[in-house]
Amino acid sequence: MTGPVTPRGIVDRIAALPEATRPTPTWDECAVLRHEHLGDAHHRLVLRSPTISERTRAGQFVMVTIPAGVAARSVLPRPMAVHRRRASDDSFEIVYRAGGAGTRALTAVRPGESLLITGPLGQGFTLSPETDRLLVVGRGIGVCSIMTVVEDAVRHEVAVTGVLSARTEEALVGGADLAELGVTEAVTVTDEAGTSDVDRLARRLRTLLDERPPQQIMVCGSDRLARLCGELAARWGSTVQVSLEAHMACGLGYCHGCASAAATTEGESPLICADGPVFALTDGERT
Ligand SMILES: Cc1cc2nc3c(=O)[nH]c(=O)nc-3n(C[C@H](O)[C@H](O)[C@H](O)COP(=O)(O)OP(=O)(O)OC[C@H]3O[C@@H](n4cnc5c(N)ncnc54)[C@H](O)[C@@H]3O)c2cc1C
Ligand code: FES
Repeated sequence: MTGPVTPRGIVDRIAALPEATRPTPTWDECAVLRHEHLGDAHHRLVLRSPTISERTRAGQFVMVTIPAGVAARSVLPRPMAVHRRRASDDSFEIVYRAGGAGTRALTAVRPGESLLITGPLGQGFTLSPETDRLLVVGRGIGVCSIMTVVEDAVRHEVAVTGVLSARTEEALVGGADLAELGVTEAVTVTDEAGTSDVDRLARRLRTLLDERPPQQIMVCGSDRLARLCGELAARWGSTVQVSLEAHMACGLGYCHGCASAAATTEGESPLICADGPVFALTDGERT
């Protein structure tokens, strides 16, 4: 999930969700319980924080401060989704892609050390009480933003279909998490295998779900997949929520560096960190 502000086509179709309770972030020195390399350039961090594991709502994120000892020049913290909450042992997980200077430096942090984490932050996904079928769609590291809503859905006995997309088999994220959560309907597609093409995936999902469409669709990590979700939602009468990303300096709504650039008649466009990162995807009529 690298790259600048969210793709324009999608930002012009977003609307803020009705505001949930404002997050009350904490600044927590979190002990590193585990830090392991997954496939590709992906790493999993398990961090101890009773407050963050308990307070984080689905789709929220934290700001990770890269310790000065490992990267003196990584001044700004990095936004990362809370991938899993494990309240039973007061911990939460982040899965990140070591791409740039800050995240590459993060790989040097060892269990027993601590990381300064600010969170939980942002407006997350809203799972409607009326929903009994949910489709979640994630591409690459974007899968990390949707796994906490799967946790909630499973707890509320919502039937979940999960689509995991990536460049390669090795770069697929989230398969083990879906299995652990008991989600048996998982569709994995990769560029490598030639299965991730949007038209092909659309046909597959129509075949799978036309008879029992989801009321809600939640998507992260790809402009093309967000558009596909919009098209499927129009066919099925579903609603779509999309988690967006942007470079963030504060994550707290102060610096306005993450303005989404969405066309608006009401002054500044929504801030990805404070009004999002999760927004409703509109089609011009549906909100
Ligand atoms: C809500 C959210 C959730 C995310 N979740 C995850 C996740 O779970 N896993 C994951 O791997 N990634 C996630 N990302 C993406 C991740 O934050 C970036 O990939 C990461 O910040 C890149 O840092 P880096 O050190 O690898 O790259 P670098 O290129 O070294 O650093 C990126 C840094 O560039 C600077 N920067 C560059 N341009 C700008 C600009 N226009 N404005 C402000 N600062 C700028 C900032 O310091 C920024 O933090 C998420 C992003 C968001 C917004
Ligand atoms: S990152 Fe500072 S306002 Fe959003």
